[in-house]
Amino acid sequence: MGAGNLPLLFLTRRIPEPGPTLLRGSFTVCGGDEDRDLTGADLLDGVRGAAAVLCTLRERIDAAVLDAAGSSLRVVSNYAVGYDNIDVAAATERGILVTNTPGVLTDATADLTWALILAAARRVVEGDRMVRSGAFQGWAPTMLLGADVAGATLGIVGMGQIGRAVARRAAGFSMPVVYTRRSGPLKLEETPAGVEWRYCSDLDDLLREADIISVHVPLTEGTRHLLGARELALVRPGVVLVNTARGPVVHEEALVEALRAGPLGAAGLDVYEDEPAIHPGLVGLENVVLLPHLGSATHAARGRMAELAARNAIAALSGKRVPHPVNPEVLS
Ligand code: DGY
Repeated sequence: MGAGNLPLLFLTRRIPEPGPTLLRGSFTVCGGDEDRDLTGADLLDGVRGAAAVLCTLRERIDAAVLDAAGSSLRVVSNYAVGYDNIDVAAATERGILVTNTPGVLTDATADLTWALILAAARRVVEGDRMVRSGAFQGWAPTMLLGADVAGATLGIVGMGQIGRAVARRAAGFSMPVVYTRRSGPLKLEETPAGVEWRYCSDLDDLLREADIISVHVPLTEGTRHLLGARELALVRPGVVLVNTARGPVVHEEALVEALRAGPLGAAGLDVYEDEPAIHPGLVGLENVVLLPHLGSATHAARGRMAELAARNAIAALSGKRVPHPVNPEVLS
């Protein structure tokens, strides 16, 4: 228990309002004053005796951290939709609920995916670099030619909430969509009218068919290196690959090679295999746009994530319905 008999919550770093205000109404909050990575020792120390931990994808919550918290720990509320930073099996074994923040960042992430699709296909960042460096000598018929986006076939690897939001935006570019989905094809009523969304049961078929490929699967042991050298060799020459999901889904070494020697034409990346480290091969390439994990980075989305992460933690300790449990079996 914290001061005033409120349970103790450890907040691993600063999050936007209304998160902190909501949390202070139900918890004694410790941490959350600074927006910087914690050391391993600070994390182990911070969680000690907490009933709840509100963490971000920058902290690895493994068995050692859960054990350091001790038997008081009831919930780990992740300030993210992806929860590959948490050992959910270890949490479940200990009866600790894990929660996440789906839905509230779907549109922000889909918008950023489109920013990368357009920037990579149309060489937007190369053009910006050219202008700033003084190398722009005037319009030229063959300068910085890119790939057509309108009418191109969009391949969505992982047609979950974010994949679908990206696919919906493709209608504005008259793009047919091919997709993979762990749980099989979408029902007819889940597909917007008047658009072509075709399910591929085999990822290889999507890779052979798409002109622009966008990755939206969560990181699990089954999706780590889902796109490796073999898969990247299957794509059409000049394909644009975008990843706003998790870096390790794409084998970065193979990606560098496919961008350098083909068949990939360009890539747009928001996430990296060993984030925040960037493969040195990527930095030297002109045909890749590199962003610092900005998918959900709008004021409104980050505020909604903070609210939902707080509500998950509060509900878990007050016995109310938890908005987004990851391992609901713990509740029963
Ligand atoms: C997530 O939520 O998983 C994003 O990567 C960060 O907002």
